[in-house]
Amino acid sequence: MQQMTVDREELARHYDLAPSLDKAEAMADIHARMARVVTPFDWAMHAPYVAAINRLKAERGAVILAHNYMTPQIYHGIADVVGDSLQLAVEAARTEASVIVQCGVHFMAETSKILSPDKTVLIPDPEAGCSLAESITPEGIAEMRRLYPGAPVVTYVNTSAAVKAASDICCTSSNAAQIVAGLDSDTVIMTPDKYLAQNVARQVPRKRVVWWDGSCMVHEQYTAQDLRAFRDWNPGTRIIAHPECPPDVVAEADFSGSTAGIIDYVARETPQKAMLVTECSMASNISDAHPGVEFVGPCNMCPHMKKITLEKVLWSLHAMQGVVEVDPGIAAGARVAVQRMIDLGRRAAA
Ligand code: 13P
Ligand code: SF4
Repeated sequence: MQQMTVDREELARHYDLAPSLDKAEAMADIHARMARVVTPFDWAMHAPYVAAINRLKAERGAVILAHNYMTPQIYHGIADVVGDSLQLAVEAARTEASVIVQCGVHFMAETSKILSPDKTVLIPDPEAGCSLAESITPEGIAEMRRLYPGAPVVTYVNTSAAVKAASDICCTSSNAAQIVAGLDSDTVIMTPDKYLAQNVARQVPRKRVVWWDGSCMVHEQYTAQDLRAFRDWNPGTRIIAHPECPPDVVAEADFSGSTAGIIDYVARETPQKAMLVTECSMASNISDAHPGVEFVGPCNMCPHMKKITLEKVLWSLHAMQGVVEVDPGIAAGARVAVQRMIDLGRRAAA
């Protein structure tokens, strides 16, 4: 894995990055989208980076794709497209920009490269990994095929390109149940997230779903007991859980969905109090859009997602560092699995 070292002196020679109340004021419209969670003083520190990145992005013909778990200053300040894993993959396949900057974790940048092999894909920190992606290798897929001969392998996009290439079809948290339900087989292998698989198994009871023993280090921390205790202290709180949470946690929730599904649910329902049982930045990013909603409860950070910072985005675009490469043979195999997933979604929407 390549390492990214930001050369601060080089950045200082090219950009005025000192905290600036003037720049903050000039970009007050951007700050207004996150004013509930980013103080004016913090904004004065972020604003010079946001201005520099947005200028450089235009010069480089780049598009910034940001996952919903990015910090508010990335999500609202510099992203051209924000979304869940599926939305970002769909956008990577159709963008006309020559450079894609992936503000998210490594597997997301790899997925963009797989779908847009002729484009330059940058990840501002190549070490931004994922506990799920690290839990399985292509040998793991082969082992599951040996255990369940003939069963199709549905692999979460939170995996390496090599694992995708060894699978039959990919899924994300927003389409996993639909994909499993649509497969012509009684037994379906799901990798690598055991909790997503168990939650899908409940939604599609006519299938026998078997799984790999991986989990997300952020979502596995939530317990049903915590949620019950929290509900007792805060009656009326709407609990909204990501399907990477254990099934008993999802069973306690009022709604479960992908990060985009969670955003849509809050917009549709506008509960007085909402607890988002997912990564911390989700509530911060949608807080200003819903001033009537009080976001309450515990919040867990993804240390991998939080490796992406404004400074690293500026450096990777300035130095064109963090270029993502995928072996063309592996990319071709992985593309089949990812494209099958995207096509299935298109057919269902038609
Ligand atoms: P979605 O945004 O697809 O729901 O995925 C969540 C996640 O953990 C990505 O790493
Ligand atoms: Fe991986 Fe979990 Fe972090 Fe998402 S939140 S990138 S699944 S570790």
